[in-house]
Amino acid sequence: MNTILITGAGTGLGKELALAYAKKGNTIILTGRKLLPLKEVQLLIEEMGGHAEVYTIDITNISELEHSVHKILKHHNVNFLINNAGIGSFGPFTELSLEEIETMINTNVKGTIYMTKIVLPHLLKHRNGKVFNIISTAGQKGKVNESVYVASKFAIRGFTESLQKELEGKLNIKAVYMGGMDTPFWEKSDHIKDKSRLRSPKEIAEKIIKEDENGTDDIFV
Ligand SMILES: NC(=O)c1ccc[n+]([C@@H]2O[C@H](COP(=O)([O-])OP(=O)(O)OC[C@H]3O[C@@H](n4cnc5c(N)ncnc54)[C@H](OP(=O)(O)O)[C@@H]3O)[C@@H](O)[C@H]2O)c1
Repeated sequence: MNTILITGAGTGLGKELALAYAKKGNTIILTGRKLLPLKEVQLLIEEMGGHAEVYTIDITNISELEHSVHKILKHHNVNFLINNAGIGSFGPFTELSLEEIETMINTNVKGTIYMTKIVLPHLLKHRNGKVFNIISTAGQKGKVNESVYVASKFAIRGFTESLQKELEGKLNIKAVYMGGMDTPFWEKSDHIKDKSRLRSPKEIAEKIIKEDENGTDDIFV
């Protein structure tokens, strides 16, 4: 069984991956900025007889990230990291604020890279160390009104592909690509008019786990 550290585990895809992996008997380390949603996911996992721990971490705060992750690694033998936390600001590039751009890059790019940097030495001690980087179809092609979000996801695609080559045979690292999901991700934007037409994060989480079990390199769902 694995001990899986998931970022952004209180809502959306992170929550559904946490529930699905816990159901299979894995221990889940739930992380995110807000305590309450994480506690709710922990309770759901405990109610089905599983085990989860909660740590609040803002992945854009390097010192907090380093401190909290070292604490986690001291107490839990994490062998699987899922970099899932991400945010999006959408609209014409000329209308994005510098703050929106900075927050997207700090969260999606730097947050993912710093988290990986801190956890990696620990993962490399395991024979079965594993990383999923949750990307998006936004990491595959450019899109209108998504310029900086797409740029952030292309960055993580490049990061993932490079680590796959650099750590071949030492670490199982997969990029995970999916289209739109009906999650709180879209709450602060009208970029998607009718999000109820999107697939549920539960369906996507189950497909990701199945694809992974089928042994594919990267995961496309
Ligand atoms: N929804 C879609 O259509 C879609 C499609 C393709 C890919 N994706 C990707 O899927 C991933 C999950 O998104 P989702 O759709 O499930 O949206 P979501 O429900 O909004 O989940 C994102 C999670 O990230 C956490 N988060 C945000 N900023 C953070 C920070 N600075 N530090 C730590 N945690 C942070 C949030 O929790 P807190 O606010 O508590 O921190 C939240 O739980 C993202 O990487 C997204 O880019 C989404």
